[in-house]
Amino acid sequence: MRVLILGSGGREHALAWKIAQSPLVEKICIAPGNAGTAGVGEHVALDTKNNSVVSAFCREQSIGLVVVGPDDLLADGVVDFLEQENIPVFGPTKAASEIEWSKAYAKQVMQEEGIPTARHRVFETSEGALAYLQTQKPPYVLKADGLALGKGVVIAKTKEEAVDGIHSMMDAKVHGEAGNRIVIEEFLEGLEISVHAICDGERALMFPSAKDHKRIYENDEGPNTGGMGTIAPVPIVPQEQMKLIEERIVLPLLRALKERGRPFKGLLFPGVMLTKYGPMVIEFNARFGDPETQSYMRLMKSDIVPALIASAEGDLSGTTLEWNEGAVACIVMASGGYPGAYEKGKEIRGAEGAMGEGVVVFHAGTKRSGTGALITNGGRVLNVTALGTDLKDARARAYEGVEQISFEGSQYRKDIGASVISVEI
Ligand code: AMP
Ligand code: GLY
Repeated sequence: MRVLILGSGGREHALAWKIAQSPLVEKICIAPGNAGTAGVGEHVALDTKNNSVVSAFCREQSIGLVVVGPDDLLADGVVDFLEQENIPVFGPTKAASEIEWSKAYAKQVMQEEGIPTARHRVFETSEGALAYLQTQKPPYVLKADGLALGKGVVIAKTKEEAVDGIHSMMDAKVHGEAGNRIVIEEFLEGLEISVHAICDGERALMFPSAKDHKRIYENDEGPNTGGMGTIAPVPIVPQEQMKLIEERIVLPLLRALKERGRPFKGLLFPGVMLTKYGPMVIEFNARFGDPETQSYMRLMKSDIVPALIASAEGDLSGTTLEWNEGAVACIVMASGGYPGAYEKGKEIRGAEGAMGEGVVVFHAGTKRSGTGALITNGGRVLNVTALGTDLKDARARAYEGVEQISFEGSQYRKDIGASVISVEI
């Protein structure tokens, strides 16, 4: 079978790496890809935002499965388009992925179905939001309704900060249309984990727990990023907790979306806070996480392709996933200045040599220069992953890999996974 992967991040490199190991797959095409994915499959210059172009390519090349990485392509309806053309595709329809692209819609479904989440209100004017703020206590959680490149959430410690946040989202429109409506919700305390499940509209194949590290600096300080590193599984999260998440969150959501005529097929990724009242949803994503996927693809023992196909066909019964023993750590190396402004084009040294024992480096913002040198081409540059006998071992191996790689201005967090095991950082 020929597989087309859409996207260019570390997530897509990890998916391509895993899919390439399947005996079912003869060829992988990637659009647009990065310097790392060039070693796994063939890069194709497609306008991925143009559904007709993607579908014409699939027909010409007899693509047997399309895997969609980024959320914006889902929100643009690439899955609907390809399904209409009878091209097998892994991912949810535009309507099913509304659970990610509209926070107000997600909150409404959760409220109607009794899926545990923070109490909230939706506002369409800044006057309404500001008046409500006066009745609430800090910290204030403000969320732009639409997709905002992962930057649509403000956690304000003071009322002044919250007032600024409301003005910049709703009046100055820093996130454009995404800020036409905002959600203000209760602040949840607890351990935040990432949950992934491959779904077929009804059933869910749950992955082990993972933990992302969203802030740029150690000890969760500084601004939010796309994610600076992940671990999986999270050693302090018992299996019963994951069962509870499946029963109270994942399966009820699948039932709810099916009843609403928009069955969810693809990868469901709830961000969950483990609070003293039980697991509560922070947000739903309708796609693989980045960098969660980089850890998961190392931990997954099974061939992923049968599960992707079964999900696309809407029948996961009879499909299971097996996982390697031990644990995985993924450390993100980012450009200096990220998540703010950063320079591109810095030469990267040591990325191939870092492939030590248990270590695999997935590329994100990388490309080849005119002379063939590996250079930086984005905010998050490389993902150094390691599988170890336990989390401590995985971390040690991953950081050994990181130390072999260098580029001007590179930054990474030294405390990935540290808060859930007692280690010196
Ligand atoms: P998001 O962009 O939706 O992933 O949100 C960014 C981050 O804000 C989340 O990963 C959480 O760490 C934090 N966050 C979002 N909502 C809440 C909440 N209700 N309570 C506490 N933290 C939250
Ligand atoms: N790492 C978080 C996300 O992919 O949204």
